[in-house]
Formats: sequence, structure tokens, C-alpha cells
Amino acid sequence: MRCHSVKQLVLIATITLSSAQYQSLSGYQVWALNGDIPNVSIHLLKNGLADILDFAGPRKQISIHPKNLEEVDRILNQEGIHHRVLIEDLAVYLESRDVLRKKRQTETCSLASCPKPLSESFMTFEEMCCKKSCNNIPPQMEWYLINLNATYYPRVEVTSIGKSIEGRNIWQVFIKSSACNEGTAIWLEGGIHAREWISPAVTLHLVNRLARDCSIGKLFDVYIVPMANPDGYEYTWNTNRLWRKNRRIIPDSDCDGVDLNRNWDFDYGVGASDAYCSEIYKGVSAFSEPETLSLKTAMEAVNQEKNLILVIALHSYGQYLLYPYGGRTESAPFTTEMIEKGKVFTRAVSHSHETVFRIDNSGVAYSQASGATDDWAKGVLGVKYVYTLELRDGGSEGFVLGVDKIAPSEEEIWEGMRAILLSVNPSNYTLL
Ligand SMILES: *[C@@H]1O[C@H](CO)[C@@H](O)[C@H](O)[C@H]1NC(C)=O
Ligand SMILES: *[C@@H]1O[C@H](CO)[C@@H](O)[C@H](O)[C@H]1NC(C)=O
Ligand SMILES: *[C@@H]1O[C@H](CO)[C@@H](O)[C@H](O)[C@H]1NC(C)=O
Ligand SMILES: [Zn+2]
Repeated sequence: MRCHSVKQLVLIATITLSSAQYQSLSGYQVWALNGDIPNVSIHLLKNGLADILDFAGPRKQISIHPKNLEEVDRILNQEGIHHRVLIEDLAVYLESRDVLRKKRQTETCSLASCPKPLSESFMTFEEMCCKKSCNNIPPQMEWYLINLNATYYPRVEVTSIGKSIEGRNIWQVFIKSSACNEGTAIWLEGGIHAREWISPAVTLHLVNRLARDCSIGKLFDVYIVPMANPDGYEYTWNTNRLWRKNRRIIPDSDCDGVDLNRNWDFDYGVGASDAYCSEIYKGVSAFSEPETLSLKTAMEAVNQEKNLILVIALHSYGQYLLYPYGGRTESAPFTTEMIEKGKVFTRAVSHSHETVFRIDNSGVAYSQASGATDDWAKGVLGVKYVYTLELRDGGSEGFVLGVDKIAPSEEEIWEGMRAILLSVNPSNYTLL
């Protein structure tokens, strides 16, 4: 079978799949809680009774599995907290506002030709990176990365740093500096939380920009993992659009998955949960998951060989640039410097579309939590500039951000990246 006909089959497959993303959200409700009661929502989150959707806001919106509706209602009544139903059925709601399928057919990407990441569609995992042969359906995120490697190798090198639980590759893109600052490295991580689709989308566009850019790209050895949780991401396409964790199957439990951003070995367990059903379930032990272990091993290797100066983990949503620690109240080393460079970033981000990103400590803005990439990069590797970037939006579309936001998001984040890279550049090299 030729690639050409596969491409058409892919389109059909994707169209029929898109409603499958919502199937397992049938009967889920979203409630708005009245009053500022952070601890109750955190309690529900930790016990796996509800998920907090609106972390960045005053923490008032939760989504609830149908089997937990009564119990959550009981707990809220007991605490004297009123709630109203915002969404009766999450599957119906998401289906009704799905813009994905309408957009899907305007742009294509194939194994044979995928010169840049898509701007009008979110890419499936196989499209981002194509390990499968043409006659495998549905093909998928890997196309772009294979094309990139074929075009730019050896200046750009795409390698697998390990495999996910279900055996998918975790791809790393290494964009080599051309001697100016050889030895100074930065690390970008995307897609560790499956449902935050804008994260891998923006990260892939950053890969594309950095690979093509012949000025800013010279300043650093850039390491980028655009899709840190490929199994979870696939699951958001096929089964549950709001899936967050990886796809660890837990025997004798109704619930699966480990929150990869609570599985790192620094203050492990702080602000995380032991409950399998919790969205912040931390796993059986630090680095119990192949995804986090692969990331850690690759980051350590970079850090040993080079001066790893900046780490950014891309998430959504909330429009925040967060600095560590998330798991302890003491200030992390170089907090002043992180805030100062953070302002350089957020100012530049606001230039293209006037989008406002706030800077805050992650533990303060998003509640105390550790075992995340950022705390580990700071606390264990000792990286000077470490951030978690919460991309668009402020909460109106949240995790299911429309495809019309891909282009403006990647444009503004690229402006921010350019500015912060110039600003943290240790050799004081200025671009002409
Ligand atoms: C919420 O939790 C924090 C930290 O555990 C505690 O200091 C605060 O008193 C709690 N607030 C309420 C309303 O229980
Ligand atoms: C990248 O290109 C090099 C040189 O052609 C090749 O050896 C390597 O296998 C490629 N990597 C991937 C992931 O395609
Ligand atoms: C960096 O560049 C600025 C402006 O050109 C200059 O004033 C400063 O002395 C330089 N610093 C170092 C460490 O070279
Ligand atoms: Zn996240």
C-alpha cells in the first residue's frame, strides 16, 4: 500500500475516532463550588473522588466521576459548601463544542512529507514523530520528527531515550549549537500530562523554530522531549480526552495510571496521593515509571557532560510561569534570578498577542506538590533556571483548547524563548 492512500485512510480513521475521545467521560459532571475552599478540593483530588479543573483560578471547578457524585455531594454538604452543576455530562458537552473534526481535513502531514508541525490541527503521536510502515493503520506524531532528522542530521539528532509502558518511543531532539556556547545546554519537556495537548504542539513548534533558526539556535545545545507521555496522549485521542497520567495498569484496582509529574525523586510524596484513583497518584516508588526514568537518565547525562542552565517543562493551563520549589516552602537557590529572567520571558510573550502570563512560585499558585520535573531539576541537578510553564488559556477552554490557539500560542512562546535564551546566555554573546 502506498503512503498516499494511507493518508486518506488516516483522515477517515481520525474522524471516526474523535468522538471516542469522549466516550469514557459519559456521565461525568463539572461542578462549580462556591467559596474559597482550597482544602476541600485538594482533599477530593487526593482521594480520587474528583479532579480539579481550575487549578490556576480560585480552585472552584471540579469534575466528578458518575459513581462519586453522591459522595462528593455528601462531603460538600457536610462542609457547608454549596455547588452548582456547570456541566451535566462532560462527554455530551465536549462533543458539542468539538472543533477538531472540522479543521482536520485542511492540513495534512505524511511520512513522506512533513516539513513542519501542523498549526491548524493537533497532531497524533505518530504524526509527531512514523515508526510504523505505510501499511499500518492508523499511522501517527512521529512523522515530523523523522522528517526533521532526515533533513537536518547531524546538526539535529532525533534519538529515543527509552520506551513507555506500552512500548512507544520517548523521542529526544538534540539541536546542536554551532560552537558559540558549546557546552551550555537547555532542556525542554513537553507532554508529560496527556490531556494538555497544547504543550506538545507548542514544543514541536519550538523544535521547528530552533532547528531552522540560525542565530538563537547557535547559543545553546538544545535538548527537547516533545512527548514525554506518549501512551497517555494516545489514550486521550482514543478513549478519554481528559486523561492526565501514564497508562500503568494497576492490578486489582478500578483505576489506572501514575501521575508522572509526581513520580520524580525529590520530596517524593509531598502533595501527591497514594490513592490509585487520584489524578495525582504518585506510583509505588520514585521513578517507578519507565517514562520518568528515561527522562531522568537523559537529563543526568546532559547535566554531566554540559552546563545545563535552563529547564522548562511545558504544561497547561493557566498562563503562569512557575518557579520551584513546589514541595517545600523554603526558597530555591537563585529564586531572585529565576524571577528576573521570568519577567524577561513573560514581557516578551505579551508582545505578539498581548497575552498575560503571571510569574509565581509553583507551590503557592498551584498548591503544594513535589515529585515533579521542576523540583527535581532544581533540587537534585542544581539547574540555575527552572520553570514549569502553564500555557494557554485562563480557563475558558482549558485542556480542550481550540485548534485556533495553536498558532498564536507557539508564536508568543517563541518570542518568550528567544528573549530568555538571550538573557541567560552566559557568554554575553549578542546577536547582530
Ligand atoms: C488548609 O490547609 C492549610 C495547609 O495545610 C492550612 O494551613 C489551612 O489552615 C487550611 N485551611 C482550612 C480552611 O482548613
Ligand atoms: C537520523 O538520521 C541518521 C542519519 O541518516 C540515522 O542514522 C538515524 O537512524 C536517524 N534517526 C531517526 C530517529 O530516524
Ligand atoms: C556583556 O555585554 C555588555 C553590553 O555589551 C557589557 O557592558 C558587559 O560588560 C558584558 N559582560 C561581560 C561579562 O562580558
Ligand atoms: Zn500539567
